[in-house]
Amino acid sequence: MINFWSFEEEYRKYKPVFNRIINNTLKKGLIFFGPNLNQFEKKFTKKYKSKFGIAVRSGTDALMISLMALNLKKGDEVITASNTAIPTISAIVNSGAKPVLVDIKKDYLLDTSKIEKKITKKTKVIIPVHLYGQSCDMDEIMRISKKYKLNIIEDCAQAQGAKYKNKFVGTFGSFGCFSFYPTKVLGGYSDGGFILTNNFKLYSLVKKIRFYGIDTVNKKNKFYNKYYSNVHGLNSRLDEINSKILDFKLDKIDNFISRRRTIAKLYDKELKNTNLILPTKNKDKFDVYHLYTVFHKKRNLIVNKLLQQKIKTRVIYPFPIHKMKGYSTFFKKDKHMISEIASKGIFSLPLYPELSLKKVKIICIALKKIMKNINA
Ligand SMILES: Cc1ncc(COP(=O)(O)O)c(C=O)c1O
Repeated sequence: MINFWSFEEEYRKYKPVFNRIINNTLKKGLIFFGPNLNQFEKKFTKKYKSKFGIAVRSGTDALMISLMALNLKKGDEVITASNTAIPTISAIVNSGAKPVLVDIKKDYLLDTSKIEKKITKKTKVIIPVHLYGQSCDMDEIMRISKKYKLNIIEDCAQAQGAKYKNKFVGTFGSFGCFSFYPTKVLGGYSDGGFILTNNFKLYSLVKKIRFYGIDTVNKKNKFYNKYYSNVHGLNSRLDEINSKILDFKLDKIDNFISRRRTIAKLYDKELKNTNLILPTKNKDKFDVYHLYTVFHKKRNLIVNKLLQQKIKTRVIYPFPIHKMKGYSTFFKKDKHMISEIASKGIFSLPLYPELSLKKVKIICIALKKIMKNINA
């Protein structure tokens, strides 16, 4: 069987390191808020060229806490893409705001030409989602944000290390939000997330919200580090073991990304004459290929035939947000044609750093044969 994703090869490779990390951390007797977290926060923030960084419990929390820090009122609107992960929307709804969707383009990312039509007096934030490892069109998004004085929260859950015009995603807006869910570009061995910001005020606010509203930044505050809530907050901690594992893997992230790009390049080369629509290329963007997503009208037939040959693929995502019952109250009249068409034809091929090129070739041979029969 060729899995869509697996951490087992990585675990086998680094088992002694991971065991050492677990033992050393537990020996120190600190589960939360210790040196591992501090070091990881510093390293991540420096690596992605931001001024401040805060680790949290998940990518969903990163988005929700960022929205909470912007003090949205009930009825305020947050614009985002109709082709995104459910958590982008659940974070908006949990913050008390109303999600407003914009359709995508052929690259499956937010169609910036459709954003301005959706802006109302209640719009406060735009969340561009850098899906599949590709950056959104940040020049246009930043132009709109300046023109209408809107905050930008970048959803970088799938695009850690991706760049737009040589600048890392997550550093354009008020906040950049990351996920360390195990499948992600930097995957942990539990949940995890991160918030980047260049604004000190927002940083200290987010740090309070992460920890029940307790101030752990401003030593002049008479309630500094006391059991006293300065603002409404919640509990969103990244533990010491996961922090250290992520720290260890962060040192290798450029290799992981380069390996992802090598695999993507091989898919590009092998599949170019198959009638599958392959991921788009853009000279302004550095893609990290969290996913290698292709499109064909006969998707279901193709993925079933691959499965018969023991090759697992995944559809990310099979339902556009506005078609889901959980959020139907917000999107009764919504129609997003490109998202709807995409959801019926997209599927992603196996891609993770430990996947051997031999297996990629096996996948391509199987896929080319299937496509030949379909095209015949
Ligand atoms: C685009 C996007 N946004 C947000 C999230 C939420 O991240 P997490 O699963 O860490 O909460 C994910 C991950 O599933 C995602 O893919």
